[in-house]
Amino acid sequence: MQPARIAPKDRLIVALDLPSVAAAEAIIERLGDSVTFYKIGYQLGYAGGLPLAKQLAGSGKKVFLDLKLHDIGNTVARGVESVAKLGATFLTVHAYPQTMKAAVDARAGSTLKILAVTVLTSYDDSDLHAAGYRLNVADLVAARGQQAQALGVDGIVSSPEEASALRKIVGDQINLVTPGIRPAGSATGDQKRIMTPARAIAAGADYLVVGRPVTEASDPKAAAEAIQAEIAQALT
Ligand code: C5P
Repeated sequence: MQPARIAPKDRLIVALDLPSVAAAEAIIERLGDSVTFYKIGYQLGYAGGLPLAKQLAGSGKKVFLDLKLHDIGNTVARGVESVAKLGATFLTVHAYPQTMKAAVDARAGSTLKILAVTVLTSYDDSDLHAAGYRLNVADLVAARGQQAQALGVDGIVSSPEEASALRKIVGDQINLVTPGIRPAGSATGDQKRIMTPARAIAAGADYLVVGRPVTEASDPKAAAEAIQAEIAQALT
């Protein structure tokens, strides 16, 4: 995108991968003014997280709804309209042309931005083959990245390892949003392809999604602020 225009603080998106609204609210309270952007996915979304998303957006926070929509165009469009009314900033859809087109058309006139998920990072070439695809992961990511750009999608979710290759394919007008971030020295958990915040920014990421290194830290606020400081440093 245009890196200078997004403040370093706003580039950190904290993933609220928590079982209840009460657990999410406790973390949000501890993070206070330090975090401006939150991601809500399946777990919290289906446990009361959508009203929380609306409340967060109403209180001035940005919200990324990681709902990975994919359905017939009309259903996607109506869903996107409802998400836009919640005041969310980002919404994910799977990178199928019909789905992306329906989502992009339906978000017109709102502040909602559509992010495409190209190929789930848990898929390798053999998983794609088993699902009936002829392309390998790298080629399908590239093809879907190009389609996303052509259809006017606002951003792409990718692993940080794919960020620099994707950046070459889609140019600098699309937001790249990367999970799989681990500050040096923090536990990797189940993440395999990880990068530090500084390296992900250097690879071309605009926004970093970070969950457990913040939400499970003994001092979540200090952990978030350390990541934001690393982002700021990487941008200079
Ligand atoms: O706790 P952690 O930092 O690993 O959380 C990363 C978040 O990003 C989770 O919500 C996870 O579902 C999401 N994500 C990911 N890898 C992807 C896509 C999304 O880790 N390829």
